[in-house]
Amino acid sequence: MNEIKIFSPATVANVACGYDVLGFCLNTIGDEMIIRKVDKKGITITKIEGFNLPFETKLNVAGVSALAMYQALQPDCGFEIEIYKNIKPGSGIGSSAASAVGSVFGMNVLLGKPFNKTELAKFAMKGEALASTCEHADNIAPALFGGFTLVKGLKPLEILQIPSPDNLYATIIHPQIEIKTAESRAILPKEVKLQDAIEQWANVGSFIHSLHTNDYQLMKRSLHDCIVEPHRSKLIPYYNEVKQKTLDAGALGTNISGSGPSIFSLCEGIQTANLVKDAMEKIYSNTGIKFDIHISKINTEGIRIL
Ligand code: HSE
Repeated sequence: MNEIKIFSPATVANVACGYDVLGFCLNTIGDEMIIRKVDKKGITITKIEGFNLPFETKLNVAGVSALAMYQALQPDCGFEIEIYKNIKPGSGIGSSAASAVGSVFGMNVLLGKPFNKTELAKFAMKGEALASTCEHADNIAPALFGGFTLVKGLKPLEILQIPSPDNLYATIIHPQIEIKTAESRAILPKEVKLQDAIEQWANVGSFIHSLHTNDYQLMKRSLHDCIVEPHRSKLIPYYNEVKQKTLDAGALGTNISGSGPSIFSLCEGIQTANLVKDAMEKIYSNTGIKFDIHISKINTEGIRIL
């Protein structure tokens, strides 16, 4: 096999209480990529459709992660990458992670899988760092492993897979404004109050427990963020209205997806997910801001070969 086509999924990072450590994988939105093994050595990006992104390997997220893996293995061949981008850069649903993961996942398959998923995540983090100016793995991990993931640590990188309750759905609104991850990180305080930290780690622990025990009510009580949301929510128009109305419509929790501007709600059942969609639509329809809304079950498989 010299060529594969893959689906590289969108992801939601942070999941309210888990800044930089928690994430989950979506199945209704993602990029497609074709990775081709060629005789000519090196990594070449031959096609990009969907958004205007650099073809130069060192300036492209998919190229940077591919180069990191290529340099580690030094194979006797090269690779061409075609990117069919559906996830808008700067949308807050893991656009750069999808690109970063896609190239290394595809190359790894074509090379007979010399690396495991955690090793692939390390290469992908190099690409992600290009977009957000620091290495974090909370989008990369769910894109590669699927489901919910917890990044236990970066040095050494340790990724835990957490079970996903069967009837859990995400509704995500993507207002068409761009928030750059680097900028949205820069506005966060460098220190947090001990009382806030206590509340936050209690919520992370209880949220993980709720996923293990299918306890939707505990999930609802855990999906809070007293550290990041107060700062970043100011960057997202109508955030408070969306949050209030989606909770009124029955969402278990609503919060900022990654670094925004997307907002996600987690819902028990498709019916509630649809009611939450209606609530989001109603608010944004009157704002003049263009938006997309996605409903997705949790994608427990992650990135896959098409
Ligand atoms: N955890 C990262 C952040 C995710 O919130 O900055 C970026 O998508």
